[in-house]
Amino acid sequence: MHTLAGKRILLIVAGGIAAYKCLELIRRLRERGARVRCILTAAGAAFVTPLSLEALSEQEVHTDLFTLGRESEMGHIQLSRDADLLVVAPATADIIARMAAGIANDLATTAVLATDKPVLAAPAMNVRMWEHPATQANLATLRARGLATVGPDEGEMACGEWGYGRMAEPTAILAAIEAQLAPAGRLAGLRALVTSGPTREPIDPVRYISNHSSGRQGHAIAAALARHGAATTLVAGPTALPDPPGVQVVAIETAVEMLAACEAALPVDVAVCAAAVGDWRVVQASPQKMKKDPSGPPSLRLAENPDILATLARAGDRRPRLVVGFAAETTCVVEHAEAKRVRKGCDWIVANDVSPATGTFGGASNTVHLISAAGGIEAWPQMSKQAVAERLAGRIADALAPGSTAVAS
Ligand code: CTP
Repeated sequence: MHTLAGKRILLIVAGGIAAYKCLELIRRLRERGARVRCILTAAGAAFVTPLSLEALSEQEVHTDLFTLGRESEMGHIQLSRDADLLVVAPATADIIARMAAGIANDLATTAVLATDKPVLAAPAMNVRMWEHPATQANLATLRARGLATVGPDEGEMACGEWGYGRMAEPTAILAAIEAQLAPAGRLAGLRALVTSGPTREPIDPVRYISNHSSGRQGHAIAAALARHGAATTLVAGPTALPDPPGVQVVAIETAVEMLAACEAALPVDVAVCAAAVGDWRVVQASPQKMKKDPSGPPSLRLAENPDILATLARAGDRRPRLVVGFAAETTCVVEHAEAKRVRKGCDWIVANDVSPATGTFGGASNTVHLISAAGGIEAWPQMSKQAVAERLAGRIADALAPGSTAVAS
């Protein structure tokens, strides 16, 4: 559990309603052995008190740039250097803008400007502020300078609106912190292939058959594998998601195109098939828009699509060392998933319960079992798709990283 033993985190708490989640984050970081020092901005102090941060971190909380006595004990330069990682949570639109502009008008932004350590931000703001081109441009600037981000999640906001802007859950921030501080690149030198999103099978030039997959889980896995150092190719159907940083993205529409792109990406060490591939395609898509016919609606003749996971798992000497599938099930989740693993010939299968009550399909979190050919069944607690991705990437690194003693299946 002491995954962060001896690590020093400087947590900058800015002014957002999500600031309360920092209390749990501090608790979890300390459980894992990290030392946490906090800077609380003036706006942040409107949402959490220095006393609660101090009680949980058991460290003095820093609020003021110009407290001379304290400045001599621990100046802002020392504060920002005496850390392995700076975490800004919640990262409001305001602090993101000041960081992007290099403004240092309080202790928090001064510490960020003065640091020589990596910085992770967990954005949290109203959806319109998040979508505003100014915020997106500021984030692009910061990311280009190496800022790592986690979230935001989609959901209902404190202001009653719905959309992206909720701060990532403490478990996801924790996973991102662990990834940042993990010994660099356990998968360095290895190649990974991930499929993600839905496929789109044309009926005619304006109509298609598709499904509700958002691509979130697959994109998060590609991002996590890349963070661990793998040279990662993401073969993605149409989604609204941005390309994950550091990942080579191949955009496709149909299952046949997805298979061709996957085969072109071989050889790889690990393949993770998270796409919701359409099972069928229309045998002969009409080259012109189909018109209504007085004799009734058309009947579509369907053909089965290639099974990408099964093809990769049976690719002979081009087979990846580790092939991981997903099983979306609504009943007898583990039994059906294990049968699917055997049928498709993959090493591991991640079984997820997509019965409507779970909200998994298209949602932000996932409840999964990881089942391996060796008979291992791990039940993971409900967690965000990012946290699932991080944990899976960790397991893949355990199995494949050079010098690892773990077996792949
Ligand atoms: N898969 C694939 N190619 C397909 C169909 C599925 O690569 N043509 C992969 C998915 O990416 C996933 C796994 O197979 O990793 C299982 O997908 P799922 O939709 O759960 O299974 P199906 O094969 O569609 O089986 P069923 O609909 O009978 O449950």
